[in-house]
Amino acid sequence: MGLRAADIVRAVSRFQTRLCTNAACGLRFPVAAGSPLGAQCPHCGAATGFVDDSYSTSEAREPDGESARAGVALEVLLDNIRSLRNVGSMFRTADGAGVQRLHLGGFTPTPEHPRMAKTSLGAERVVPWTAHRDGVAAAAALRERGLRLWALEGGPRSRSLFDVVQETWSWGQGEAIALVLGHEVSGVDPRIVDQCERVVRLPMHGVKGSLNVSVAFAVAVYVLRHGLAPPPPPRA
Ligand SMILES: C[S@@+](CC[C@H](N)C(=O)[O-])C[C@H]1O[C@@H](n2cnc3c(N)ncnc32)[C@H](O)[C@@H]1O
Repeated sequence: MGLRAADIVRAVSRFQTRLCTNAACGLRFPVAAGSPLGAQCPHCGAATGFVDDSYSTSEAREPDGESARAGVALEVLLDNIRSLRNVGSMFRTADGAGVQRLHLGGFTPTPEHPRMAKTSLGAERVVPWTAHRDGVAAAAALRERGLRLWALEGGPRSRSLFDVVQETWSWGQGEAIALVLGHEVSGVDPRIVDQCERVVRLPMHGVKGSLNVSVAFAVAVYVLRHGLAPPPPPRA
């Protein structure tokens, strides 16, 4: 911690495009500049040719950093998330979306795990985090600090996050939400849901009842941080 995201050195930034010389294959693919891997087609194994090296990866970083962050302040409680990859991915997303702190409840892995950096890619060093053995107590402490406790979960109390964000569009500086996400199979602990001011869901339109937890996290924190403008009033 104490490190700024900009201090994290990017491992690879320049690429070259290669084209398979086997006419029946024709695979076009990028490879890191200077890497010997590009000499052979990863699909058919034939030799490849150089096409160009005119591009580097493009970042989506906000040009004016902190001041570009929009929306309400946001902390997130990840309670009993079992997958290291999911938690690493959520650290990376938390950094991008401007989540102020991740609270890691129960057995949720922490950045002390040596393999987390595989998916968090350095974000675990810049996003503040706190570990809590008891997620229910952690949720109560967030409420006591004055944060609005919201569960990201389905169920009879839940309302579409998109509707709720539009209704709370006028919220600005001074409002802070603590969003709670739960276990990949059993969801948010019902004793935490009981404490929540709201339960918000991401509408599911297909056969599945929920998203992967790190995907749900990404959608929700970006919507909460950057909001959605309410629809214009109907014409008279
Ligand atoms: C895979 S879900 C857990 C199982 C889910 N309660 C079910 O019955 O399918 C894991 C966590 O991801 C979040 N989540 C995933 N999809 C969601 C959705 N569509 N709406 C709200 N939360 C969701 C919730 O925080 C949930 O606790």
